[in-house]
Amino acid sequence: MDQIRRIKSLKVESQIFNQITSMDRTEFPQPWSERDWGDLDLKERYQLFVLEEKGELVGSALFEINTWDKQAHLLKLTISSVFRGKSLGRTLLAASLYSMLATIETCYLEVSVSNPYAVSLYKKMGFAVLNTKKKFYSNGEDAYAMQAILN
Ligand SMILES: CC(C)(COP(=O)(O)OP(=O)(O)OC[C@H]1O[C@@H](n2cnc3c(N)ncnc32)[C@H](O)[C@@H]1OP(=O)(O)O)[C@@H](O)C(=O)NCCC(=O)NCCS
Repeated sequence: MDQIRRIKSLKVESQIFNQITSMDRTEFPQPWSERDWGDLDLKERYQLFVLEEKGELVGSALFEINTWDKQAHLLKLTISSVFRGKSLGRTLLAASLYSMLATIETCYLEVSVSNPYAVSLYKKMGFAVLNTKKKFYSNGEDAYAMQAILN
């Protein structure tokens, strides 16, 4: 059975660190370096959730939390390519947001305008497009800024 849990510490070279950085490198359009991942403060500023099946990493969701504005900024949502199209991205995002409801009221994100699967998922989850950020990504692609009001 699939299991979603919050990762509170991401020690460099731990099994979960290697799984997450490997998935980010191979599956996420704008991957981070291992150093970026190793520097994350998962106690306060960032919240990281993973979806696992039989100990295998299936997906992850990373948020930056702005407690002042009660906002979660979704930085990364990734589902392993072999598991896509089964609503697992939606399940992981919904469960992550639900578990943060005591501290956040909105969720904000940027997504490439040429990522229809992700845009569709976010729209179905109640995110609305706020505006388009021209040349937001290093490859020159535009991004939609999207937001959902959670409660
Ligand atoms: C975006 C992402 C997390 C969606 O995860 P998912 O578990 O496939 O999500 P869902 O199953 O809810 O499907 C989302 C949409 O993709 C469509 N889809 C169908 N088959 C698919 C396939 N083989 N692969 C990917 N998406 C597929 C789904 O039909 C759905 O669209 P719909 O709601 O219009 O039918 C996943 O595609 C991913 O990890 N992509 C790479 C990382 C990325 O781009 N993240 C978002 C950056 S902001």
